[in-house]
Amino acid sequence: MQGPGGKDQKRQWDETYKQKEFFGSEPSELGQRALQIFKQRGVRKVLELGCGQGRDTWLFLRNGLSVTALDYSETGVCYMRDRSEELCLDKDFVIEMQDARKGIPLPDASFDAVYSHMFFTMELTESEVAAIMEECRRVLRPGGLNMYSVRNFHDPHYGKFTPRGEDMYENPMGFVVHFFDEAKIRRLSSGYEIEWIREFDDTSPPFVKKLYEVMLRKV
Ligand SMILES: C[S@@+](CC[C@H](N)C(=O)[O-])C[C@H]1O[C@@H](n2cnc3c(N)ncnc32)[C@H](O)[C@@H]1O
Repeated sequence: MQGPGGKDQKRQWDETYKQKEFFGSEPSELGQRALQIFKQRGVRKVLELGCGQGRDTWLFLRNGLSVTALDYSETGVCYMRDRSEELCLDKDFVIEMQDARKGIPLPDASFDAVYSHMFFTMELTESEVAAIMEECRRVLRPGGLNMYSVRNFHDPHYGKFTPRGEDMYENPMGFVVHFFDEAKIRRLSSGYEIEWIREFDDTSPPFVKKLYEVMLRKV
């Protein structure tokens, strides 16, 4: 789908993932923190939204978690299928090509945790994010965790380049990014308890980004 006047974002990701490991091959810092928390909280089944090329997916699988991953990029999903076999990580792994705006086609209360790194910060309006948050809540078991990251107003790209509505801006690489403040995160947490919202730097390529790490618990 194409935003007002902007580049088609699905096509943008499809093109990007023709190049291997756009975000690098190492797990993200958020993914490493998530793994520790998931171990402490007894999480076994994880749903990952916007998995990209799997830098955090492989970390979770290598550490014994079962992962179902969704992404709308066809090249990304094909890469994930092939790579999971090459890495012999295809046993507890399911990958689906799905635009999350069309819902999450998975059963109620079937996951211990939902994880996403820089997914909600894509070209999604606040009402689309709210609908996906509700879908996450539906597929989580009672007490399940929804851990995610979004770029925030302290990010070097906030307010720069081409405005694309709400707090979204299209950068010169052609990616539309939605920036969040704490008030928006709180508005989007209905039906969850907010365990924390904390700022961190993501130092992975191609440049340092300022994000909020958010931990929600289904009530
Ligand atoms: C910034 S990338 C992050 C990738 C990965 N989480 C990582 O950190 O390496 C955002 C991902 O969200 C996916 N995405 C964006 N909008 C989507 C949508 N509406 N439904 C499903 N996936 C989407 C993109 O294809 C892309 O892989």
